[in-house]
Order: sequence, then C-alpha cells, then structure tokens
Amino acid sequence: MKVLVTGGAGFIGSHICELLLQRGDRVVVVDNLRTGKRANLPPRVTFYHEDITQPLLNSIFRQEKPQVVIHEAAQVSVPSSVADPLLDTKINLAGTVNVLEAAKQNGVQKVVFASSAAVYGEPQYLPIDEEHPISVQSPYGLAKHTVERYLALYKSLYGLDYTVLRYSNVYGPRQDGQGEGGVVAIFAHLLSRGLVPTIFGSGEQTRDFVFVRDVAAANVAATTKASGQVLNVSTNHAVTVNQLYEIMAQLWGVDAPARRGPERAGDIEDSTLCNLKACEALAWAPSWSLEAGLAALKEGWDGLPDF
Ligand SMILES: NC(=O)c1ccc[n+]([C@@H]2O[C@H](COP(=O)([O-])OP(=O)(O)OC[C@H]3O[C@@H](n4cnc5c(N)ncnc54)[C@H](O)[C@@H]3O)[C@@H](O)[C@H]2O)c1
Repeated sequence: MKVLVTGGAGFIGSHICELLLQRGDRVVVVDNLRTGKRANLPPRVTFYHEDITQPLLNSIFRQEKPQVVIHEAAQVSVPSSVADPLLDTKINLAGTVNVLEAAKQNGVQKVVFASSAAVYGEPQYLPIDEEHPISVQSPYGLAKHTVERYLALYKSLYGLDYTVLRYSNVYGPRQDGQGEGGVVAIFAHLLSRGLVPTIFGSGEQTRDFVFVRDVAAANVAATTKASGQVLNVSTNHAVTVNQLYEIMAQLWGVDAPARRGPERAGDIEDSTLCNLKACEALAWAPSWSLEAGLAALKEGWDGLPDF
C-alpha cells in the first residue's frame, strides 16, 4: 500500500512512518518542519518539505497517487490556538480541507485523521466514550471537531472513506519537552538535567497516557479497518500527575519532591478515554504499560533501528 503521512516528521507521525515501512508500505511524507524535524524521518520515506495549506499539495498527490492519507500535520498547541485562532484555523481547518480536496481529486481511498480528546471538553462522565457530548473549549478543539464533520461530509458527497482517531495524552520518544509538549516530555526534559519539575494544582488530576508506539499501531490498523468510524485511542486507565511524577522521579534517579504551583486556569481535572470501540474495530490494544513506556523513554529507545 502507498500511504501519504502529513506531519510525518513530527513526534507521532514519524512513529507511524516506521510502522508503515515495517509492514512493507511505500511511505510519502508532507511536512513543512514547523515543529517536526528532518532527523525524525526514517531514510526510506519520500519526503516533501511542503506546507499543507499550499495549492502545490495537489501536484504532490497527483504525482504520488497515495491510496491512503494519514493526516497528522497540525498546529498542535491548545494555548496557541487561543492566542492566535486565525493561524490555527488556517492550518488545522483550511489546511485540512486542502488535504481533503487533494485526496478527492487524486483517487485517495481513505483518510485517517488525528483528532483529540479536546473535542470532549470538561467530562460529564468517565471514562469518556465516543458518545460523550462534544463541548469544545478552544479553537484547537473546534477545528478538530469541524474536520471530523468534514470527513463525514466528504464520505457522503464523494465516497472518500475515513477513520477518526481521538487521541488521549500521547507520550514517548521524540516528543518536544521544551515547548508546549505534554507533561511527560516536560518532566523527562527537566529530570534528565537533574531539575525538579513543578506540578500545578493538587497533582491529583488524572490523565490517560498512551505510548506513541501504540498510537502509531492504531493508525496503521485504521488504514484498512473501521470505515467511517470515530474511535478513542487511549489506555482507558487513569493516572494522577502525582503518580506520574513518582514513577518518573524514581526512574530518573531524582530523590526530591516535585515543586508545587497554583492550579492553572482551564486545566481539566480528570480525563480517561474508553478505548473499547477502538480495540474491537481495529483489532488493536495498547501493549505498552506506563512503566514500560517511561522506561523505554528513559533508556533512549528510539523506535526501530532498521527503518
Ligand atoms: N501529542 C498528543 O498528545 C496529541 C493528542 C491529541 C491529538 N494530537 C494530534 O496528533 C497530531 C500529531 O501531533 P504531534 O504530537 O506528533 O505533534 P508534532 O508537532 O510533533 O507533529 C505535527 C507535525 O505537523 C507538521 N506541520 C505543522 N504545520 C504544518 C503545515 N502547515 N504543513 C505541513 N506540515 C505541518 C509539523 O512540522 C510536525 O512535524 C496532530 O494533529 C495533533 O493535533 C496529538
């Protein structure tokens, strides 16, 4: 199969590329390296240093003729989307419509889309399943949900198949801990320098941390399964930020309590996503425990050496 991965030089996209190559697929990446890195790319991918918002995208699709598109490219920061909603809309909404138009015009059969738990907002019950009401709280969440609806529209108008994957908190190698990366990346960045991170609020807030390799495996499975479905990609397991810190401090050999900071406005207290639907539809299950994933991160494990 020939698969085009937008954002393939990024954290999650690069792991997806590796698993596709391992399956024997031909892989094309379109990435403007806004937050991704060329060094993340496995050598055997065909790389286009291009922006998904540009008209030139169509000629890449025309030349490469991918059967499936895995769409990871995005402005990925929720706070940045609040600070600059126009930029978020340009990349995450208009850029995605540009991807869908190129897909429609060049015979792509299916689009697999990286959506987010951000579409659910403050949970009304836990774990959050796919039937949970949508309640976006940022331009980022709004763009992700609007794209989900575009996908349903393109399927009904043009027969372009899709699967939406709503990720929980993804962590693992190649996640950027210096910018707005997830809490695991930030803790790892600081602990590896002997610095003690700050936990905001009580630390009893829960998150559902899923290892990037498991997310990549769900994407690869979705290239051939779960037609027209919306699926949570998560562990279904709640971990408090305090528990996370304890495990990480022990692994990184830091014998000090975390610093404490005030609760941050807008932080969701608890979040766990039910993954039963994805397990069934994708014949997939997360295979990395948090301890195993964090240990792999600590040891500098960085994917498959051969790809
Ligand atoms: N990391 C998480 O916990 C998480 C959770 C939910 C959803 N997601 C989604 O998963 C996807 C991948 O995120 P990530 O964590 O790997 O972030 P990332 O920043 O590492 O990856 C995004 C990639 O998209 C590229 N990109 C950005 N704008 C582009 C443009 N205009 N044209 C071409 N390429 C562009 C970046 O250079 C980067 O390589 C995103 O769609 C994100 O919204 C991530």
